[in-house]
Parts: sequence; structure tokens; C-alpha cells
Amino acid sequence: MAFELVVVGGGRMGSALVKGLLAAKWCAPADIAIVEAATEQRDALGAQFADVTVLAALELEHVGSESGIVLSVKPDQAEGALRSIAVAGASRVLSVVAGLSTQRIETHFHQPVAVIRAMPNTPVLVGKGVSAIAGGSQVTKDDLEWAESILGAVGTVVRVTERNIDAVTGLSGSGPAYFYLVVEALIEAGVHQGLSRDVSRILVQGTFEGSAALLAASGESPEELRAQVTSPGGTTAAGLRMLEGRAVRAAFLEAVSAAAERSRQLGR
Ligand SMILES: NC(=O)c1ccc[n+]([C@@H]2O[C@H](COP(=O)([O-])OP(=O)(O)OC[C@H]3O[C@@H](n4cnc5c(N)ncnc54)[C@H](OP(=O)(O)O)[C@@H]3O)[C@@H](O)[C@H]2O)c1
Repeated sequence: MAFELVVVGGGRMGSALVKGLLAAKWCAPADIAIVEAATEQRDALGAQFADVTVLAALELEHVGSESGIVLSVKPDQAEGALRSIAVAGASRVLSVVAGLSTQRIETHFHQPVAVIRAMPNTPVLVGKGVSAIAGGSQVTKDDLEWAESILGAVGTVVRVTERNIDAVTGLSGSGPAYFYLVVEALIEAGVHQGLSRDVSRILVQGTFEGSAALLAASGESPEELRAQVTSPGGTTAAGLRMLEGRAVRAAFLEAVSAAAERSRQLGR
């Protein structure tokens, strides 16, 4: 039986996508198959997605002319997975594999195939990811819309050119880690001021959630919102002066630059 969508690699990314697609009623559960190499993970997927088919390997019969593939295995497993996808034949492949170019994916196929490369981030696990997509040499408008509809089930999607995927990796792909580092540091700062760790965490997490919601809802720029809490000569101004003195802004510029450069190196 051929499936509408076959997700190859049912790890964190693959299963988050399936969860989002089912919640969005993108298609019926019976139209999705997950191919997962690890037995234990296959059992877990079977328990999580009752009506979705979970397979140990991709066979010819699972892929039809209308089937799409999501490639969500680890980078070092991608070549092997692509060989089996090419044998089964697919008209569309959406890959979330870091560092794997659309050109490299296309070389596995003897016939033209629409390849879309994406860089999502971990908040897709809670349906609040942000992903950038870039099309390969054969993609049409419909193919990009198809990819957008899949990743749109787990968050926001933007389109970029493929040469910008490394920048996206350094910014939003690694972004959650930068964010958690800042959260950790602020919680620690609260503790240093005498607050309990629990109270400090509630305050910091609430501050981030509320500030992000305000940024999204107000339509104002980050600069305007920051100015609103910075009275001349006041407490926030004193804190911000310290951050600027420690070159926090420059540190972020360099962090994103280093992460993007590392992504370029890994992709070579
Ligand atoms: N997590 C992120 O934040 C993030 C962000 C952007 C992009 N990505 C990309 O998303 C991809 C998946 O990441 P992940 O975090 O979901 O990894 P993961 O949890 O390790 O999932 C990969 C899964 O694919 C399985 N697998 C390996 N080879 C297979 C094959 N030939 N056929 C079917 N299944 C196979 C693996 O099984 P085994 O356990 O047996 O190896 C594993 O369960 C990676 O390429 C990563 O670069 C991840």
C-alpha cells in the first residue's frame, strides 16, 4: 500500500511532525507511515500514534507516484536512508537533515525529484517551531506550498534561498540554546539576589513568555518596547548599561556568526 506521506526517521523531529500533522488534520492517520530503524522507538511510535503505520524499512509498495517523503534521520544516517528512498521512488522529498544540500539529495535519484530542504528548531515539539525552507533545482510553487503545509503544522515557516540555510541554522536552529543559556543565567542572577530558585525560575520564565507575547501582540519593535521600560536614569537603564559595557550585543553577533560558520563547515 502506498502512503500519502512517509516519514523516514521517527525520532524527535519526525514524531513531532507527525503529531502536528495529525492535530492539524493534514491527512488521515491511515495515510501516514513512519519508517523507523530502532525497535524500541518503533514500539513507542506505535503506542503514540494508534492509527499510523510504523514500518521497520521502506519498501517499493509504500511509495506511489503521489507520495511525499519527509527525511528526518540523523545526518550520518541520511545517505543510507536516501538510497532506500531512491529505490522506492518518490516525487517529493522534504529533508530536515542538517548540513545536507538539495543537490546532494538530488544526486541519489535517477529521475527528477522535488527536494525541499528545511531547518526547523526544537519548539516544533510543542507546535511552536520556526522553520526556514529552500527548494532544490526541480521544485515548483506547489512543492514549496506542500512543504510549507507540513512544517506549518508545527509552527511558522519562512522561505529562504539555500545559501541562507547556514545563517538560519546559526540563528533559529541554535537559537533555543542561546535562549536557555540566558534563562539559566537570569535564574542564577535571581538566586544571587536572594530569591529562591523556584521563585526565580517562575519570574524569569514568565518574563520571557510575557515579553514574547507582548512583542507579538503589540506590533511594536523590540527597540520601542525596550524604551518603554527604560526610564532615564532608572533601574533598567542601570542594568542595560552594564550589559552594553560587557558587549552582550556583540557576543550575540559573534555567536550566530560562529554557529553559521560551523554549519557551513559541516555541510562541506
Ligand atoms: N532536533 C533538532 O533540534 C533539529 C533541528 C533542526 C534539524 N534537525 C535535524 O533533524 C534530523 C533528525 O533529528 P532528531 O533530533 O529527530 O534525531 P533522532 O531523534 O535521533 O531521530 C532520528 C531517528 O531516525 C532513525 N533512523 C536512522 N536511520 C534510519 C533509516 N535508514 N530509516 C529509518 N529510520 C532511521 C534513528 O534510529 P536509531 O536510533 O536506530 O539510529 C532515529 O530514531 C537530523 O538530521 C537533524 O539534523 C534536528
